[in-house]
Amino acid sequence: MSDSVRLIKERLDIVELIGEYVRLRKAGKNYQGLCPFHSEKTPSFSVSQERQTYHCFGCNRGGDIFSFLMEIEGLGFSEALENLAGRAGVELPKQERLQTRSLSDVMEMASQWFRDRLRESDGEVARAYLKRRNLCAPEILERFSIGWAPSAWDGLWTFLRKKGVTEKDATDCGLVMQGKHGVYDRFRGRVIFPIRDGSGRLVAFGGRIIDGEGAKYINSPEGILYSKRRTLYLLDKAKQSIREKKRVILVEGYMDALRLQIHDYTETVASLGTALTEEQAQQLNRLSDRCCICYDADAAGQEATIRSMYILQKTGLSVSVVRIPVGKDPDELLQSADGHELFEEALRKALPLVSYHIAARRSLLDAPETRKKATEDIVEGLRSLGPVDAEPFLSKASEALGLFPHVLREILYGNGSKKVENTVSRDAPVQKSTAPDCTDCPAMEAALCFMLWRDIKRRRESEPHVLLGLFSHDTVRAVAEAILSGSSVQDLESQWLSMGETAPLHILALGGETADTFGGLNGWDALVSELGRRRDKREYEDLKKAMQHGAATQEDIERFRELAVALKGMGRSN
Ligand code: UTP
Ligand code: MN
Repeated sequence: MSDSVRLIKERLDIVELIGEYVRLRKAGKNYQGLCPFHSEKTPSFSVSQERQTYHCFGCNRGGDIFSFLMEIEGLGFSEALENLAGRAGVELPKQERLQTRSLSDVMEMASQWFRDRLRESDGEVARAYLKRRNLCAPEILERFSIGWAPSAWDGLWTFLRKKGVTEKDATDCGLVMQGKHGVYDRFRGRVIFPIRDGSGRLVAFGGRIIDGEGAKYINSPEGILYSKRRTLYLLDKAKQSIREKKRVILVEGYMDALRLQIHDYTETVASLGTALTEEQAQQLNRLSDRCCICYDADAAGQEATIRSMYILQKTGLSVSVVRIPVGKDPDELLQSADGHELFEEALRKALPLVSYHIAARRSLLDAPETRKKATEDIVEGLRSLGPVDAEPFLSKASEALGLFPHVLREILYGNGSKKVENTVSRDAPVQKSTAPDCTDCPAMEAALCFMLWRDIKRRRESEPHVLLGLFSHDTVRAVAEAILSGSSVQDLESQWLSMGETAPLHILALGGETADTFGGLNGWDALVSELGRRRDKREYEDLKKAMQHGAATQEDIERFRELAVALKGMGRSN
């Protein structure tokens, strides 16, 4: 607080000042009256002489002598200062004297003018629109200073000019534009949302069209006051709450941010449709550790989420992604029946960023044509996090990508030699040449290895000789043997690595993918039974050959019949 402001506050009494505008009655310690800022029949406007503040319990306006005068007279701060200094007999130092109004003052004047227009009879269309959007309660309009820019060409400019605002200042504020026929208002026929920076300075406006043609939203242009890449809508209001709740909720749009704040998610800010920037992420990171992204449930929202989440994570925030039902944005969801519960549930089920990325790319990962691209995409995201931040996600990611963790690590941080295509082996069976008659056999056998690798219980409970009998492929069987040998998987991994043996790792990676087609680790029984059938089929073929060559014993022939009956029941086709 400057010396002059303190001096002015010492000398002036708020009860006296407000008394010029409102008939005040003493009620207990405080004074009461009808609120000058909204229409009412019973007094909810209270002034405290002790604290030198006022507050209206009806419309929630409140503040000190400065804000009162600014609001009631539509003044900027410097004007109010000049006015009150005059009343108090305080001489302002030269730099505080009102020469030209500051741009912030012009912005505040404009904001007040927009708000006043909303209350007028001409504002009826806007009020009706806001009612449809369920944003019509006076306390909401007040809390978020929502206004209305009428459709006339130069309503605001005429007002500003009368107040002595220069064309240059109004232009610098982004409020007016120069046309063929003179100066005209930028915002016309739009509901107005003031945009403040983190410290509460009014830097821009957003305007939503309510009917007719034109962009859905227009915003103030970048300029002296407004830097889009540094601004987050409602950050000034959310700041304290973000600190207290130790998390921030990030949404895309004005309406989403408003709706969430109204529903008591006061830690919400909006990135306003633009790609989130590092500067914005940094600001959030300074306030909390966690960020929940909650963008629209459409394709654009999904891509924006993926871009933004890595930017946020890189600043050190821990990011999770809230997924809302398809086709909705957070605003619509919260207004639907049970919206609040559904949103709570979505928050609870928020996914860590890599999990979200994988889920978003699931169908691309599953389709052979797009798998490589999708894998690269996720690898790229992981790489952008840097080794330490990526580490917690590696096991999940390697599983989803069908890559062995250390192979993934190698792709990420190896000397750049390793590419995704060299390691993703789904399309080619391992050492095809040794099993020419059943190309997918090794993949299933690899899956058995993978399940054993992942499931320590399975490993302990299995009968090694029964399991090993299921393998046709020597290398794959050798891997299974190693796993069943009792060494820990970590020991095996480092042993293989130190010996430069990559085949086991590739087999496990391939096995991971194949295991998925059997429903992951739960597919054990189905997989064992299918491998058993294939083993029987191999034996059947061998015996048949022996019989054809007259080399079969009586025992062989009985075994052949047994197998023939068993395989018939299952279909002999392969
Ligand atoms: P949306 O199209 O999702 O709008 O754009 P919304 O926030 O859900 O708004 P309503 O519910 O349709 O009224 C998300 C954000 O992108 C920016 C705005 O910040 C908007 O809130 N945007 C969108 C623009 O700046 N200009 C546009 O024309 C559209
Ligand atoms: Mn919307």
